[in-house]
Amino acid sequence: MTGIVIVGTQWGDEGKGKATDQLGNRVDYVVRYSGGNNAGHTVVVDGEKYALHLLPSGILNQNCIPVIGNGVVIDLEVMFAEIDGLLERGVQADRLLISANAHLIAPYHRVIDKVTERFLGNRKIGTTGRGVGPAYADKVNRMGIRVQDLFDESILRQKVGAALELKNAMLVKIYNRPAVSAEMVADQLLAYAPRVQPMMTDVAAVLNQALDHEKVVLFEGAQAHHLDVDFGTYPYVTSSSPIAAGACTGAGVGPTRIDRVIGIAKAYTTRVGEGPFPAELLDEVGEKLRQDGGEFGTTTGRPRRCGWFDALVVRQAAQVNALTDVFLTKLDVLTGWEKIPVVVAYDVDGRRFDDLPIRQSDLHHAKPIYEYWDGWTDDISAARQFADLPTNTQAYVRRLEALIGVRISGIGVGPGREQTVMINDLL
Ligand code: GDP
Ligand code: IMO
Ligand code: MG
Repeated sequence: MTGIVIVGTQWGDEGKGKATDQLGNRVDYVVRYSGGNNAGHTVVVDGEKYALHLLPSGILNQNCIPVIGNGVVIDLEVMFAEIDGLLERGVQADRLLISANAHLIAPYHRVIDKVTERFLGNRKIGTTGRGVGPAYADKVNRMGIRVQDLFDESILRQKVGAALELKNAMLVKIYNRPAVSAEMVADQLLAYAPRVQPMMTDVAAVLNQALDHEKVVLFEGAQAHHLDVDFGTYPYVTSSSPIAAGACTGAGVGPTRIDRVIGIAKAYTTRVGEGPFPAELLDEVGEKLRQDGGEFGTTTGRPRRCGWFDALVVRQAAQVNALTDVFLTKLDVLTGWEKIPVVVAYDVDGRRFDDLPIRQSDLHHAKPIYEYWDGWTDDISAARQFADLPTNTQAYVRRLEALIGVRISGIGVGPGREQTVMINDLL
């Protein structure tokens, strides 16, 4: 067992960071393969809380090599601020490797992210405003700046100039904003080159060689299946491929390298930003879930929208990502409810859907159909084995497992690294 993917099965913030960190001391490489610093992965080690946005969560385990693959978009300012922030807290982060082919988020991408959202008004996506979407747009549009461009000054200046020609016309004429100086941007980027140089490498070659030598490589997903540009609730998605298959294109390993895919699923559902969310609770029940679960964004601080567990959502993720295991997180947050509803189907204008509708217009009109499970009151945060959990908790977990159709191999009962019930070994 050597290539393992960790992937979000809902709309993000399922606890991927904690799950990654948990396996960290047993893996050789932890690789981010998609997204950028729109991610916010919280890891709690010995009561110390770390919020990682761009760096792989494996950075907190000194034996493991953190890697940023070609599929990630890198904001160098953010990356070095994160590295320096960790160093100040005594965490060595300079062993990081980054792909020469990864694209950069330039300052103008952030500006464009923000003005576009403002321009969209009530049709906005609710992005994190980090410039991630515009950087991916430039990549696909063949106007992007790559890490390796930092080492060819004339090419870099040419590329930044070309990228800004159209953007400046747009910024000035459409958005009524000042033009961005190509020279200043190029200077800013070039200033990072000396620090980037020792980190830049051929990530695909490094990882394939590692896998050849039976090393354990963990691909840490950011975002989630339902934020995927192909499989998510388009256009309310992120601009990359967070699904497990994205690990192949985003890090340069073939599909046969992946031995295991672990889907991270929260014991209820949350979403940040706009877009359809049939299970959403706009009442005091949703508010209680938000308070109990501390559901406020790690990246933007926005309150997360909350609802009960939606089996249709996680089941589709299980299929498309070929999940071998599910890690169920934040089960402790559900302690204290008399009844715990689970969404098992949707009602769309009188029609029943047992699986996600094909047409997103239906999803926008979907009303949840619930099944109700008996709750529990005992504190479960000290449980370490399945048998430690109250009978009703066990029944709830077994029901989710049956609805998802994939075995639940781990359960989070608190934010701490040790607060986990392991059922099947994940490695
Ligand atoms: P990610 O983006 O998927 O890594 O998830 P986030 O870090 O954005 O959000 C998950 C939050 O839940 C973080 O604050 C974690 O510390 C916390 N967390 C993770 N697992 C558990 C768990 O099992 N129980 C509780 N109570 N909190 C958890
Ligand atoms: P992690 O890795 C939750 C959401 C944004 C917005 C949409 C597009 O912590 O689970 P973007 O800035 O990517 O263009 O925004 O995607 N989004 C996330 N929501 N968790 C995340 O990451 C997210 N990354 C992006 O809120 O709705
Ligand atoms: Mg998060």
